[in-house]
Amino acid sequence: MRYLVTGVAGFLGSHVAEALLPHATAVTGVDCLTDYYPTAMKERNLRRLLDSEKFTFVEADLRHADLSSLVATTDVVLHQAGQPGVRTSWGEDFAAYVEHNIVATHRLLEWSRQAHIKRFVYASSSSVYGNADSYPTTEASLPRPFSPYGTTKLAAEHLCGAYAENWGLPTVALRYFTVYGPRQRPDMAIHRFIQAAAEGRDIHLYGTGEQARDFTYVDDVVRANLLASWKPIRPGTVLNIAGGSHVSVNMLLDKLGDIVGRPLTVRRGDTCAGDVDNTRADCSKAALLLDWRPLIDMTTGLTRQVEWQLAAYGTAKGRARHGWQVSVARSVA
Ligand code: UGA
Repeated sequence: MRYLVTGVAGFLGSHVAEALLPHATAVTGVDCLTDYYPTAMKERNLRRLLDSEKFTFVEADLRHADLSSLVATTDVVLHQAGQPGVRTSWGEDFAAYVEHNIVATHRLLEWSRQAHIKRFVYASSSSVYGNADSYPTTEASLPRPFSPYGTTKLAAEHLCGAYAENWGLPTVALRYFTVYGPRQRPDMAIHRFIQAAAEGRDIHLYGTGEQARDFTYVDDVVRANLLASWKPIRPGTVLNIAGGSHVSVNMLLDKLGDIVGRPLTVRRGDTCAGDVDNTRADCSKAALLLDWRPLIDMTTGLTRQVEWQLAAYGTAKGRARHGWQVSVARSVA
């Protein structure tokens, strides 16, 4: 199989592309290298991929570039690219969300339809649910996005549905729930909390910290992508992909404090617009259709992310200055 992974220099795209290599004839990765990520991080994310002869990197912007010839030689598209960030999607910045999340997805769907792609996997988001009436949310729960970002992710998900219904394009939308692990985006909570702790700074907590998330380890999301690429499931299917570790941000801070061996210092601020109180998924549909369930518990996943972040950023001198230690309860590869 020949795979096309969009957003390949990002957190999820780079992990998905790496995991595909042993199974693929060829993996092509596309990214427009926006400045949302620091350049060094994009380079680090791509490093292992660029060592593989099976991998080709194409710098291109899905909003403008013509990728028709590339899609024509692809069997499976894994569309991980997008403009992320719930809290920054208000105001004038919304235009970028519309362009990167809706317009780009529409163009990719159009090429994929014409090229008779065998499977189109779309990276959707728990943000489509907003503040739900009841939890856990199932794929049948009414989606009511609470942020402009969530609205664009839902719009693109509906586009996948429309291409499936009208053209038989075999799309699958995976609704990811707050993904974490090595290479996590630097704007996300866990990355920021570890970074603040490592540098001896206060953590900025938005609101009471009682907001809760169904945090999901990146390897579980990657496995869901692989299974969604291969399993025969009905075009237009939507699936929750969540870690099953539903914890409040306060509980997350306690867990991180345990892992780094010291309590974290926190400065409380206001709740952010667009931030939902709760996410919690029912993943029985993914279990049934993909034979998928989350395998990585939060202590293991957080420890791996702390270790990765220390190796990627932390200097031994800096760590010693802050008396920072990572206590690893057990060995995690
Ligand atoms: C995350 C991703 O950023 C979205 O791209 C993704 O689509 C979404 O998950 C999803 O699952 O749908 P979010 O849940 O806001 O969005 O994830 P984090 O940025 O990790 O924030 C988690 C919680 O920590 C939020 O309540 C946030 O307000 C809080 N937080 C974040 C802080 O208190 N301080 C910070 O510095 C950062």
